[in-house]
Amino acid sequence: MARRQVCGKGKFRWNDNGVAAIQGARFVQRKSKSGMSASSPLRPVLPADIKSRKGGAPLVVLTAYTTPIARIVDRHCDIALVGDSVGMVLHGMPSTLGVTMEMMILHGRAVVRGLSKAMAVIDMPFGSYEESPQQAFRNAARLMAETGAPAVKLEGGQHMAETIAFLTARGVPVMAHIGLTPQSVNTLGGYKVVGRDDEAARVLADAKAVEAAGAFSVVLEKVPEGLAGRITAQLSIPTIGIGAGVNCDGQVLVIDDMLGLFTDFRPKFVKRYGELGQAADEAIAAYAAEVRARTFPAAEHAFPDVLPSKGPKS
Ligand code: KIV
Repeated sequence: MARRQVCGKGKFRWNDNGVAAIQGARFVQRKSKSGMSASSPLRPVLPADIKSRKGGAPLVVLTAYTTPIARIVDRHCDIALVGDSVGMVLHGMPSTLGVTMEMMILHGRAVVRGLSKAMAVIDMPFGSYEESPQQAFRNAARLMAETGAPAVKLEGGQHMAETIAFLTARGVPVMAHIGLTPQSVNTLGGYKVVGRDDEAARVLADAKAVEAAGAFSVVLEKVPEGLAGRITAQLSIPTIGIGAGVNCDGQVLVIDDMLGLFTDFRPKFVKRYGELGQAADEAIAAYAAEVRARTFPAAEHAFPDVLPSKGPKS
């Protein structure tokens, strides 16, 4: 079996997972087990590499909004999702509805700068794609051109299938997002589980519709575990779960949730892997106390008026 090597601007690296989705890289070159380059032509890295992970090792996805966090995510994850959750976790908005194209472009660029291995996916913000496939294409093309990300994500199932087909036919790889779609919170009536009882058939139909439309993967948010497993078994594209149980092809979390940085509320599906908010609180409290006590800055943090003499030269 040919392994894949990613060649960038003088920088290339093997991906631990065997995935060639290396951000910022320009081409993929096939390499045989012997280590010799195969004769197949160079080709651009594509979300198809993510699609080909269906049924394989679980896809690891986290959101990222800044360059320093993207650099860390890049070391451990397959995809860095520039989610419109940025509006709530970094900008203090009450929902994702106020997020703009400009915000997504700014954060998207910052994240792409921090990636050399993982693939960036940029969320299309509310109001940027629902009106028509043409509007969606205009804005998706802008997100890709102005950030350098190779794919976008948009919310919606059967009613967005025509748009997903329109985008994918025109060179825009789409990650779909069904189940709880936070941009529709006002019509859904809250951030509730979607797909119990009578709703299950509709969510399954949504999954099949986005797959048929050409999405390369689909996020299942707050979908009951059993239904998410059935959808995963019936689809040929990877499912990426958030609050959808362990049977999905991958998992995504909002990074500020799992690091304990966003503490306004904590959904049941969030596991805290760190308490960085508490660590920041303690660090800032210690700084404030030392400034008030005049114990910071100490001598080693200040610049003397006269440099200490190095002594006479021998
Ligand atoms: O905006 C976001 O962070 C998302 C994830 C929750 C999937 O869409």
